[in-house]
Amino acid sequence: MLHRPRRNRKSKAVRGHVREHRLHLDHLMQPLFLVGGSGVKDEVASLPGNFRLSQDNILREVESCLKLGINSFVIFPAIAEALKDKTATYSYAEGNMYVQCLRAVKERFPEACLMTDVAMDPYSSDGHDGYVNESGEIENDRTLPILCKMAVAQAQAGADIIGPSDMMDGRVGEIRMALDAAGYSNVSIMSYTAKYASAFYGPFRDALDSAPKAGDKKTYQMDPANQREALIEAELDAAEGADYLMVKPALPYLDVIHLLHQTHDLPIAAYNVSGECAMLIAAARNGWLDFEKAMPEMLLSIHRAGAQVILTYFAKAYAELVQNNHVNR
Ligand code: PBG
Repeated sequence: MLHRPRRNRKSKAVRGHVREHRLHLDHLMQPLFLVGGSGVKDEVASLPGNFRLSQDNILREVESCLKLGINSFVIFPAIAEALKDKTATYSYAEGNMYVQCLRAVKERFPEACLMTDVAMDPYSSDGHDGYVNESGEIENDRTLPILCKMAVAQAQAGADIIGPSDMMDGRVGEIRMALDAAGYSNVSIMSYTAKYASAFYGPFRDALDSAPKAGDKKTYQMDPANQREALIEAELDAAEGADYLMVKPALPYLDVIHLLHQTHDLPIAAYNVSGECAMLIAAARNGWLDFEKAMPEMLLSIHRAGAQVILTYFAKAYAELVQNNHVNR
């Protein structure tokens, strides 16, 4: 036999030479859930090990992640029902708890990279990402100015990256123009480009209590059956000035990550969403999978498919494995 592929796997050193992809902590972004009050650390039942944290505890968590080498965070707010309304007014209200928290984190840890969420759902009494009219339709163009106000308020508070997760048409361009007009031309946009109408967001909606009150999100989020359609979204977002293109969820959509990576020059991000992480946590807790081995494999696969940035609830846990020398890098 002339060719014996096993020769390139014969030792740790040789495997190291030929390893094609390496996951670095720089690739990871940790999502955090913010809630009002102080001293709050409330575990999300469907996402064990993840908590709704009040601002003081967010600061502690950011500090401990930074010490481990995780420098990027995406923060989501759980808003009290009484503050929600049809037009998500609280999302851009002066000094709301979300912008206060962003400001506090940036003041204390200027080196932390903060990404925000732009969508109406946490603040909407309808639980939808867009404005719901009298006939129950999600009105695209009435939503855009609200998203712009939200984005500008977040930029003003010190956000580094704005993350529109709403899937309204034209929002990247509108947000880009609003940011520039307000003097925030250095604030980036990571667009949720190919965001699917997925069943894997369940634990996240539990965490924020943000599930739609009626209907589903299928008129704005993409059909899981579609791949080519992601190219249309990607072209628009790139043309509208996005700095990163994101695919969400990650694991069930590795083909889409790969496709965008092959066809676009912008950096590709992937959101390893709550349901994907919950599956692994559940299996590990039952003794069915080895968490310390399966989790890094999961993240590496997302990276191998073409994602340079991975938003994952496992960012901190991965950094802990690295610190204890438990991952093969
Ligand atoms: C909402 C939003 C969702 C997630 C991020 N932003 C849920 C949804 O679209 O209903 C999901 C993230 C996750 O499941 O981890 N704008």
